[in-house]
Amino acid sequence: MVKVESIEKLPGVGAATAEKLIAAGFDSFISIAVSSPGEMVNVAGVTETTARKIIASARDSLEMGFETGEELLKKRDETIKITTGSKALDGILGGGVETGAITEMYGAYGSGKTSIAHQLSVTVQLPFDQGGAEGIAVWVDSEGTIRPEYLADLAKAKKLDPQEALKNFRGVRSFNSDHQMLLTENIGDLIKQGLPIRLIIMDSLMGHFRSDFSGRGQLADRQQKLNRHLHTLLKLAQTHKLAVYVTNQVMSKPDTFFGDPTEAIGGHVLAHASTYRVYLRRGKKGTRVAKLVDAPAMPDAEALFVVTSEGIKDV
Ligand SMILES: Nc1ncnc2c1ncn2[C@@H]1O[C@H](COP(=O)(O)OP(=O)(O)OP(=O)(O)O)[C@@H](O)[C@H]1O
Ligand SMILES: [Mg+2]
Repeated sequence: MVKVESIEKLPGVGAATAEKLIAAGFDSFISIAVSSPGEMVNVAGVTETTARKIIASARDSLEMGFETGEELLKKRDETIKITTGSKALDGILGGGVETGAITEMYGAYGSGKTSIAHQLSVTVQLPFDQGGAEGIAVWVDSEGTIRPEYLADLAKAKKLDPQEALKNFRGVRSFNSDHQMLLTENIGDLIKQGLPIRLIIMDSLMGHFRSDFSGRGQLADRQQKLNRHLHTLLKLAQTHKLAVYVTNQVMSKPDTFFGDPTEAIGGHVLAHASTYRVYLRRGKKGTRVAKLVDAPAMPDAEALFVVTSEGIKDV
């Protein structure tokens, strides 16, 4: 990686363009390197040819080339796993909710998705050696289900000062899918202001998309927008080394004759974007069952956990 981060050093970027870029959040080589010419044209008012040149030179200066297996392994070591509070649940995720990736949990009403979000909002604040990421969570809330009192209880249970823990949390209510997308795009700004965001929560990811695009023939539009939204989230995850936890709703597969007919909504677009996909359901005696559905190099496995007033715990 280059040390000089002054974007004015990029060919085609004069003082005025630099100012516009910085104002729009493109204040580092990496943020420019991963942007699209269209975005550059919009925010900086340059021509598309110039935009392509700027992006290409930002990429060159970052040496975005192929890496050796050793380098890749080292990068993997830099990922942080945020504990869910349950060793069993962490186990099927390979240690916890991973930075640089999207973890999706889907399941029926009351299966534990929002409870896990509360738990992660607290555990993300813990020191690294306690399964935390020494950072804070930002929660984009489409359902109005954030419970600050519960966050305070969970903080106490983890021996954190509840007052401090609430200060180290940001929540915002979204009112439709466009608003949700806009809020998500603004998270980059919070990070630039110095907030140590290590976790983004989207609870639920699909709720607004589902109701805003409920008409017949709107599915293609919905998926296209969803794809853009997920791209924003992945970009945030990877550029800022933070974890993204999204919850999702379910539907019943109409053509299932055997087994569980429950399926996540969101189609291939979401299935493809989620690095970890976990199906939650109610188990025996108030337990919850988490099943890893789709993850790289991990066996499909199940874990049992419980939701308590002190958070997520092993059975
Ligand atoms: N303090 C608590 N003590 C014990 N159990 C709790 C507590 N808080 C929540 N629960 C359990 O968690 C369940 C709610 O789970 P949660 O809200 O996480 O579900 P969800 O998957 O987000 O559902 P939805 O699809 O409705 O959003 C409750 O039904 C209850 O069983
Ligand atoms: Mg919920």
